[in-house]
Amino acid sequence: MKLCSALGVWMFFNVAAAMEPISTSIAVGMAAALTGFLASYPNLIYYFHECCRPEWISLNKTHLEVALNKELFGQHVASRVVLKTVTGYMQNPNPKKPLVLSLHGWTGTGKNLMSQLIAESIYHKGMESGFVHLFTATAHFQHQKHLETYKEQLQMWVKGNVTKCPRSMFIFDEMDKMQPGLIDSIKPYLDYYDNLDGVSYRQAIFIFLSNAGGEKIAEVALNFWNAGQEREEIELKDLEMAITLSVFNNKQSGFWHATLIDKHLVDVYVPFLPLEQKHVVQCGLAEMVARKMKPDKEVVERMAQDLNYFPKEHRLFATQGCKVISSRLDYYI
Ligand SMILES: Nc1ncnc2c1ncn2[C@@H]1O[C@H](COP(=O)(O)OP(=O)(O)OP(=O)(O)O)[C@@H](O)[C@H]1O
Ligand SMILES: *[C@@H]1O[C@H](CO)[C@@H](O)[C@H](O)[C@H]1NC(C)=O
Ligand SMILES: *[C@@H]1O[C@H](CO)[C@@H](O)[C@H](O)[C@H]1NC(C)=O
Ligand SMILES: [Mg+2]
Repeated sequence: MKLCSALGVWMFFNVAAAMEPISTSIAVGMAAALTGFLASYPNLIYYFHECCRPEWISLNKTHLEVALNKELFGQHVASRVVLKTVTGYMQNPNPKKPLVLSLHGWTGTGKNLMSQLIAESIYHKGMESGFVHLFTATAHFQHQKHLETYKEQLQMWVKGNVTKCPRSMFIFDEMDKMQPGLIDSIKPYLDYYDNLDGVSYRQAIFIFLSNAGGEKIAEVALNFWNAGQEREEIELKDLEMAITLSVFNNKQSGFWHATLIDKHLVDVYVPFLPLEQKHVVQCGLAEMVARKMKPDKEVVERMAQDLNYFPKEHRLFATQGCKVISSRLDYYI
């Protein structure tokens, strides 16, 4: 039995009360007490089974804004774009198509973290939610010879899950390593259709992650630096072209076959800038806090100093972003 709300819990106890005459008075008492209890502590329902209902799924804009500000370092463009797009979409009672975000950038710059923050601001259980689905190219769709099977499977999964809960989220990691053709199978779901076979996909959220365009984005960031401009002056329009061009020209990879771009199925391309040493330091301090240690700037700076940066002559951007921080830190504390 699925207990989908306080009402469900209340009914369960009432039915139980009706079916068990001897302990009826006890059960009725319990039902009444529980009803009163849940009324005073509405958060208690969150301990029960997750359901496709607003109690479990609704955007908390403040939560997203605070999380982006506090937890995602050095990504002012991505933060701004995501906050605006996700909020706009979630507040629209009648979206014309599902939300499709494509996150691009150098390794270790926070793309997975961003998808996690989005999930946490919408689903009470965050990435643990049964309505959030993460697919990784190398893990789920590894073998070239099984492409046809994968296509069918993916179609079935997306359709099945959206049927179960229209407000489902699908995250596709490592898009650049995905076989061309695989994403074609779900392309109709991303489009402007009222419904397909009786299923509407307009409430669903698709997030694609990839490194495609990362080098071009780094180039733009380097040009700003060379021109003596602040990183914070970089705007979305400075980077959009860099992404679409490199995605467009990469015939090898995943969904990028022009059709997605041609048909404007991606709502926004979200660029992730390469991280500088000061951001790596921020990551290190945050990691120490997460480990319940006293943040030690001296330790973290020593670690950040020893990492690799590019271009070699300026040591400007961290080659692995913040990716190796949690394992590296062990050597310095
Ligand atoms: N901008 C950032 N702010 C805070 N933490 C970050 C940032 N970028 C990366 N991290 C941290 O570094 C680790 C790796 O980040 P994440 O997995 O999000 O990178 P990614 O962009 O998905 O990289 P890849 O392209 O290699 O998959 C995580 O622990 C994450 O918390
Ligand atoms: C939304 O998030 C903010 C910040 O995390 C939190 O203080 C607030 O209680 C949340 N609101 C709801 C309705 O959950
Ligand atoms: C939903 O997706 C998951 C993969 O995340 C899959 O295992 C499951 O079978 C899908 N559910 C339905 C009803 O299709
Ligand atoms: Mg990643």
